[in-house]
Amino acid sequence: MGETPTREAAWALLTEFTDNPSLIKHALGVEAAMRAYARSFGEDEEMWGAIGLIHDFDYQQNPTEETHLHVGTKILRDRGWPEDWIRIVASHADYMGVPRDSRTAKALFAVDELSGFLVACALVRPDKAIAEVRVKSVKKKLKDKAFARGVNRDDVRNGAQELGVDLGEHIEFVRDAMATISDQLELPPPE
Ligand SMILES: [Fe+2]
Ligand SMILES: [Fe+2]
Repeated sequence: MGETPTREAAWALLTEFTDNPSLIKHALGVEAAMRAYARSFGEDEEMWGAIGLIHDFDYQQNPTEETHLHVGTKILRDRGWPEDWIRIVASHADYMGVPRDSRTAKALFAVDELSGFLVACALVRPDKAIAEVRVKSVKKKLKDKAFARGVNRDDVRNGAQELGVDLGEHIEFVRDAMATISDQLELPPPE
């Protein structure tokens, strides 16, 4: 592992441990949102994107709070990934007890649950187009506990707050970032 891991290295790591298409799409969605936020904040897009890509790389094999990230961070350390990256990856799960003390960590947490929620919102549309998902309808669905019940609403709201962005603008921003990779998410392209 060199100084700064490349996207190629991140992709290789992800796909070494993950072949579940939903998890791959989740990683790609989070990557797209992280890249977009990095650009808008003038931060390191390659780093932010790669962290988005690998943040759940151990999840398929370790899907519990007792294992997810406990195993992953050990693998990353054994392989010489940068310690600051490892801390950011670990910090996306509260139970790891790693503070989100960088903007990268805050962004990762803010986009993680929301990205899945936006896909769920797209899939209930007749056209299934994520680009067409309205902020108002996302906010409404966030209040509907029966909809996409696996998504933690507090994480979505707290994530935006920690990152210092308005929830509505955050929804719009992540939606637009994800819409640019609709093909990879296997959703219809924007009109
Ligand atoms: Fe995770
Ligand atoms: Fe995730």
